[in-house]
Amino acid sequence: MRRCGRSAVRAVGIPLVFAAACAWAQTPDGANLSRKLNCMSCHAADRTLLGPSIADIRRRYANDPDARDMLARKIQKGSEGSWGSVPMPANTQVNDDEAHALVDWILAPQH
Ligand code: HEC
Repeated sequence: MRRCGRSAVRAVGIPLVFAAACAWAQTPDGANLSRKLNCMSCHAADRTLLGPSIADIRRRYANDPDARDMLARKIQKGSEGSWGSVPMPANTQVNDDEAHALVDWILAPQH
């Protein structure tokens, strides 16, 4: 609830929008975020588009304990050379919570 404090109210202004933003902040949902942030224009569930499929990323990192933070950072800052010659541009609008929610969603055993 701390995230829904007064500064958030001031930033958003309208109480109704604030309530929605507040609910959003409490439950960052990786699947929804991936659509909202256009991740799925380059990634598909189980086939390679411009980027690797979600299933391939999950297979590679599911058992890697360091992957969560590493991938969250890459989502924010971009990635190059892990999968091929096409780089992923930085997603600077993604905050830390959102990046981790996206990684949790990608690495979840099933979607
Ligand atoms: C413009 C196309 C594009 C968009 C948009 C995009 N990606 Fe990527 N993504 C790529 C490419 C290409 C790679 C492979 C980069 C590489 O080889 O290092 C990649 C790699 C990744 C990886 C694996 C990184 C690694 O080191 O193995 C993750 C996780 C990922 N993307 C998540 C996301 C998420 C989440 C979003 C939305 C916020 C997103 N991507 C948006 C193209 C994109």
